[in-house]
Amino acid sequence: MAEYLPEHLVRTGGSVPVSLDQVVPWGRSLDEYIRMFDLSEGDLSSAILDCGAGPASFNAEMRHRGCTVVSCDPIFRFSAAHISRRIDDTYYLILEKAVDNRDKFLWHEMKSPEQLGIIRMAAMKQFLEHFPLGISEGRYRVAELPSLPFRDFEFDLALCSHLLFTYSHMLSIEFHLAAVRELCRVAREARVFPLMPNFGENRSEHVAPLIEQLTAEGYRCAIRTVPYEFQKGGNEMLLVRRVD
Ligand SMILES: C[S@@+](CC[C@H](N)C(=O)[O-])C[C@H]1O[C@@H](n2cnc3c(N)ncnc32)[C@H](O)[C@@H]1O
Repeated sequence: MAEYLPEHLVRTGGSVPVSLDQVVPWGRSLDEYIRMFDLSEGDLSSAILDCGAGPASFNAEMRHRGCTVVSCDPIFRFSAAHISRRIDDTYYLILEKAVDNRDKFLWHEMKSPEQLGIIRMAAMKQFLEHFPLGISEGRYRVAELPSLPFRDFEFDLALCSHLLFTYSHMLSIEFHLAAVRELCRVAREARVFPLMPNFGENRSEHVAPLIEQLTAEGYRCAIRTVPYEFQKGGNEMLLVRRVD
């Protein structure tokens, strides 16, 4: 689904959006994160970084379960009120895209674009309510790939949903390589979902060369099928670890 329309990524190569007019916020829930990243109970109680987190409710819902997640995103420099206004301004635009592209998605769980909108809005509302507390507790951080302000192996797991591969037509293979190396610097394991571009029907063209290059550099890469498929064929996750 078209979410953030990352024109800023094209213009600046991945730097902080200059204004919220450049982004279209859209966020997923804890239940979706669990299935997208095949997260076990052990994974959920480990130190997790959600990179490119946007207005997902993952962090808020994890906090309710008593678990701490750090989420980072360039849009966290904006206030909840600003992000909320932008969500309202762009909500119907995204739903229109969903209607136009409905054949690219499986409408099993979400029965219709309208229901999709309701579910996403519920997740984003949870994010918005939680965001000020999360900022004050340091669980939302303004940061962007390919350079993150975290220590080596500060996290057990770095998750990246709907950023890498999703915008393959805008982000180069060099950007993807630098981003995954950085995720593996700050976490013992990186997981990226999905492997398909936005509205695509096959794996991103970056997947094979990225795995080949990272394997040659001493990383261990694996593709795992996960119990989540909304975009047709989009049920694969990439796992990457440094082999020491
Ligand atoms: C499509 S949203 C995904 C949100 C959330 N992960 C989810 O799946 O619901 C992509 C997010 O990546 C963020 N982003 C854009 N460029 C980035 C970068 N260079 N590093 C980290 N995040 C970035 C955007 O601001 C946006 O919030």
